[in-house]
Amino acid sequence: MPSTKPLILLTYPIAPEIQRQALGRRFRTQVARSRADFEKRVAGASAIVTLVKDPVSARLLDGAPHLKAVGNFAVGLDNIDLGACAKRGIRVVNTPKVLSRATAECALALLLACARRIPEGEALCRAGRFKGWAPDLLLGLELRGRTAVIVGPGRIGTETARLFRGVGLKVRFIGPKTKPADQNRLLRQAQILSLNTPLTRETRHWLNARRLGLLPRDAIVINTSRGPVIDEQALIRVLKRRRIFAAGLDVFEREPEIPVALRRLPNAVLLPHVGSATREARTAMAQTVLEGVAGILNGKRPWNEVNLSGYA
Ligand code: GLV
Repeated sequence: MPSTKPLILLTYPIAPEIQRQALGRRFRTQVARSRADFEKRVAGASAIVTLVKDPVSARLLDGAPHLKAVGNFAVGLDNIDLGACAKRGIRVVNTPKVLSRATAECALALLLACARRIPEGEALCRAGRFKGWAPDLLLGLELRGRTAVIVGPGRIGTETARLFRGVGLKVRFIGPKTKPADQNRLLRQAQILSLNTPLTRETRHWLNARRLGLLPRDAIVINTSRGPVIDEQALIRVLKRRRIFAAGLDVFEREPEIPVALRRLPNAVLLPHVGSATREARTAMAQTVLEGVAGILNGKRPWNEVNLSGYA
């Protein structure tokens, strides 16, 4: 006999022990084998658990008549049509808080890698091109006393600020309420610019050619938020001209595609969207997202439910 337990459809496997702990025995889970399989099986699902690369569109939801909950295995929600969820009464949870430290540590790692040209040094050693100590070999920048501007004063931005202060940086913030004139003044001071903002209509291409042009010479740009927050082509142009010192990027405009021009630049440090990829954070994210969808299906209000009141 087919099971009558509500189905939670996953787009990626989650460890059985985490599933057991978070879900108990009231639900069954399935893992979709492909996007096409996901779109087919969603018809029978009470909840779905998606990754940042899985778009949740109105069209998908139209094929999901029993769906009550969407759990995004991420803090960012730009892959989900929140308006379409709100209109259909589908509730949404994500994974805030548990990944803030990991993402901030990734921002710091990228910053140190850029400032001290770590990937260039590593590549040189591996290629057998290290010919001995030299006073001018791979000169970088010292961080202490420099000014960092963090765009996005949320949980991740605040945690990043804490770590940046630890290496002697002065930290300023740009938030949604910062006036344009103040933004421009802060950008002129930003020897380090860290992007920690969600991707929204307002933040798409926020770091464009004009704003890049305001940064001091030798600035370092760090992005652990979402690729489209930067106009990638404009960034490539300033890196090529060495108008800024470097960029450390964990995210890209059209993931998983990374433009060849960017891959060829020695002053770009590139990571494959691993900001929250620590064992600790990913375990906590899996637990948080599953507990969230189970909470909704059990008629509760999970702490990590997204407020959709502005979207309906
Ligand atoms: C990952 O990018 C996330 O939003 O959690």
